Amino acid sequence: MTTLIINIKELLQVENSPKEMVCGKEMKILPVLKNAFILIENDVINDFGEMKDLSNLIADKIIDATGRIVHPSWCDSHTHIVYAGNREQEFVDRINGLTYEEIANNGGGILNSAKLLQTTSEEELYNQSSVRIEEVIKLGTGAVEIKSGYGLTLEAELKMLRVIKKLNKNYPITIKATFLGAHALPLEFKNNKSGYLDIVINEILPLVAKENLAEFIDIFCETGYFSVEDTERLLKAGSKHGLIPKIHVNQFTAIGGVQAGVKYKALSVDHLEEMRDEDIEALKNAKTMPVALPSCSFFLSIPYTPARKIIDAGLPLALATDYNPGSTPSGNMNFVVSTACIKMKMTPEEAINAATINGAYAMGLEKTHGSICIGKKANLIITEQIPSYNFIPYSFGNNKTYQVIIEGKVI
Ligand code: NIG
Ligand code: FE
Repeated sequence: MTTLIINIKELLQVENSPKEMVCGKEMKILPVLKNAFILIENDVINDFGEMKDLSNLIADKIIDATGRIVHPSWCDSHTHIVYAGNREQEFVDRINGLTYEEIANNGGGILNSAKLLQTTSEEELYNQSSVRIEEVIKLGTGAVEIKSGYGLTLEAELKMLRVIKKLNKNYPITIKATFLGAHALPLEFKNNKSGYLDIVINEILPLVAKENLAEFIDIFCETGYFSVEDTERLLKAGSKHGLIPKIHVNQFTAIGGVQAGVKYKALSVDHLEEMRDEDIEALKNAKTMPVALPSCSFFLSIPYTPARKIIDAGLPLALATDYNPGSTPSGNMNFVVSTACIKMKMTPEEAINAATINGAYAMGLEKTHGSICIGKKANLIITEQIPSYNFIPYSFGNNKTYQVIIEGKVI
């Protein structure tokens, strides 16, 4: 099956040989072909170029993209899409003056979601989560990472990870799984953190690895949750089972989580709302991708990740949604890209790079996703008729996606 898209006003993020990621000043460069075509064969990109160089107008399906922009699908490298129910009451409580921390300290927050998930059947959890997967696919996401971490018991963590596996099997987008058993301390372990970590490390982790349920390992390294010492202990155990770290750090306080991530060769360190100079220094010469989650900052009214400081220091940056019931009940990468431009002063080029190729890197998918390159997955967004790609972030809250193509198929 071949599909030929012709008369594309601007084809974004094209490359001849696949790059790993873009860093620093390079992030301001978004390679664009004007008046272009792209040829898809089955699930991959077979050719692309300028219309004047298109010799053969033959394909099983031809799409005329006059006036439209085509770019790679969003790569959302940090989500918690598998959860039960919602936390709309906590949203109202925060409007009425409680903070996210106060809600968590009163037994709400992550523990609230865990309690509900533990009593939700695997089938019901799958059904609730698949609604969100379908929603993000329509919004233009072509690859997504999903974490466990709302189970917090052996059975419930495995249930979450099995749901993620099933979603990956049943939906055309690529889904990567992360084991986040150390997301919060269950109430029974309130005064016995190392006891809970013993269970995570000695009982849950071996089964996660044995059943091949996750590729990555995560921990909420934060004051009041897990310390740097806990983080190092978990990451060491994870690496024995071949799990690569992708960790939650510096959301509310900077306590050295970035350094621990770099030390254990984390693929990414995520959140980074609170960044000290030494945290930025630690990321230099590392292969660890910093990941910003601006929708979380927006929803919780906390600081935004200092993107300018990070990029101007020569570092790369990726953007993701953090879709979860507590801090970010939204999986809209279009909103993330807009918010990064508006609140974090990223240029449209930087934000699009961060949400495509750098997001792909943060999931270990840079060889197959995140750019328009021959041989990569044909995961594309065709926009409405818009004047230029600046219109994508400019039209905040108003999605300009016209059509979504995943692995060569129009969704
Ligand atoms: O990334 N910070 C830790 N975990 C999630 C939120 C969890 C929740 O509130 O349910 C996050 O923001
Ligand atoms: Fe998160």
